[in-house]
Amino acid sequence: MHSEFTPEPTVFVIFGAGGDLTWRKLTPALYSLFIDGWMPERFQVLGLDRSDMDDEKFRSHLRKGMDENSRKGKVEKKNWDRFAENLAFVNADFTSDKSFTDLAKRLAKIEKDWDTDAHKIFYLAVPPTLVENMARRLGKAGLQKDRSRSRIVVEKPFGRGLSSARTLNATLTGIFDESQIFRIDHFLGKETVQNILAFRFANTLFEPLWSRHYIDHVQVTVAESLGVAHRGAYYDQAGALRDMIQNHLMQVFCLIAMEPPVSFDANEVRNKKVEVLKATREIPSDRVNEFAVRGQYAAGWIEGERVQGYREEPDVAGDSLTETYAALKLFVDNWRWQGVPFYLRTGKRLPSKVSEVSIQFKAVPHQTFPSGALMDWRPNRLLLALQPQEGIFLRFEVKHPGLTMHLSPVLMQFYYREAFDTVPPEAYETLLLDVMRGDTTLFMRADQTEAAWKVLSPVLQTWEKIKPFSFPNYQAGTWGPEEAEVLIAQDGRSWVMPTHLQCQENLAACHVMTG
Ligand code: BG6
Repeated sequence: MHSEFTPEPTVFVIFGAGGDLTWRKLTPALYSLFIDGWMPERFQVLGLDRSDMDDEKFRSHLRKGMDENSRKGKVEKKNWDRFAENLAFVNADFTSDKSFTDLAKRLAKIEKDWDTDAHKIFYLAVPPTLVENMARRLGKAGLQKDRSRSRIVVEKPFGRGLSSARTLNATLTGIFDESQIFRIDHFLGKETVQNILAFRFANTLFEPLWSRHYIDHVQVTVAESLGVAHRGAYYDQAGALRDMIQNHLMQVFCLIAMEPPVSFDANEVRNKKVEVLKATREIPSDRVNEFAVRGQYAAGWIEGERVQGYREEPDVAGDSLTETYAALKLFVDNWRWQGVPFYLRTGKRLPSKVSEVSIQFKAVPHQTFPSGALMDWRPNRLLLALQPQEGIFLRFEVKHPGLTMHLSPVLMQFYYREAFDTVPPEAYETLLLDVMRGDTTLFMRADQTEAAWKVLSPVLQTWEKIKPFSFPNYQAGTWGPEEAEVLIAQDGRSWVMPTHLQCQENLAACHVMTG
């Protein structure tokens, strides 16, 4: 259907095929691509894991996953049968060289049967501790050799800090070319996150205002109402800074702050993002508290339901000091952004799942109107709503109807779902298709992951050294710890209440984005 874009014959090898990521995200995404005609004519999904599943069991296990997780809804038998023909399972031990040499043989056989060189994608959907050794074994089995067709996909976290990220990158780049390495950050596959680039660089309107001359500050909020669910064991070792800020929020921050790229070429875009991280002011180790806040949720109420505290979650230590909330204040030391604070915050068990970027403009330089007219005056604000509401909102002032001069804020609104009669693809669909095509634009380059860790290093080190004495310090269902309010209030500003919550709570407020 999309012949000019469809990838070449591909074998998609998933290590960790019995796991949650494969079941919930990867194979539903591949299935949607298949239904929409994006998959290559010839492909195979080869699932590897330590399990005695056979092909049939693997297929029925995945089918259940599709029914529950695919954006296409329950699978239709006719489509499923065509897709399932391409699924196969191999029982493999990831710690044994033999599994990798067997894999090499199997791939060679597939290529022989297809009578063509296939693209080979090695997706490591495995715990981070296994990644380095598996990359080495792939290399030992010669599976990296076809530089233009073999690719490795690595999930976050990319290390636990700067030095482990450097070690991991050194191992990966010692085996694969950078062009073969796909470090996945699924936020970059989200339509609305990609739209930040389109909005900024396909319009003349806002770019001239996009600087310290007109912008007062920027806020990036990625709030989640869920707790850690069944991921306690992983999360308790990670925390919000490593799990969300180092990757997802830093990416959004880079997209907002980057200079215009000359082209949409992968390295050009990635260079511009790295420049932002390199220009980000180092947080002084002895003043981390002025720039960073951490929190952990206690039991509370979310949407009328009682939820337990973080320390009561399965696989979480009863005295855990892991942060489930983090807020940061960053500055970018360059001509464009000097003096403009970027406030980033994320947390689990906040009142709602919502991601937004708020760009607040400065006050007008001179107030023309009498003070009586200004009672409802608010500075201009541009809101990029990433999820669940997807859209762009601009607040500006107008004259309130009436015989006297009175100003009122109003909202100009663009909703994706109203403007386009189509359901956007899932982030993983976009990203897996890019992997198959070999396009690294939306993936993180080695230096980018390291630069992001570098920004966070003083915070990580200080938090490691000085234990939080007040945990848990926010109730589930609230907007995080008091200290986060102080972080922004000390600059005379406040966190923006996400738009869609305002709409739920008070329809009128939705039109003005108060605050
Ligand atoms: C993941 C984090 O990368 O992103 C999770 O590990 C988090 O902790 C998730 O819940 C959020 O992603 P999304 O797409 O649901 O906003």
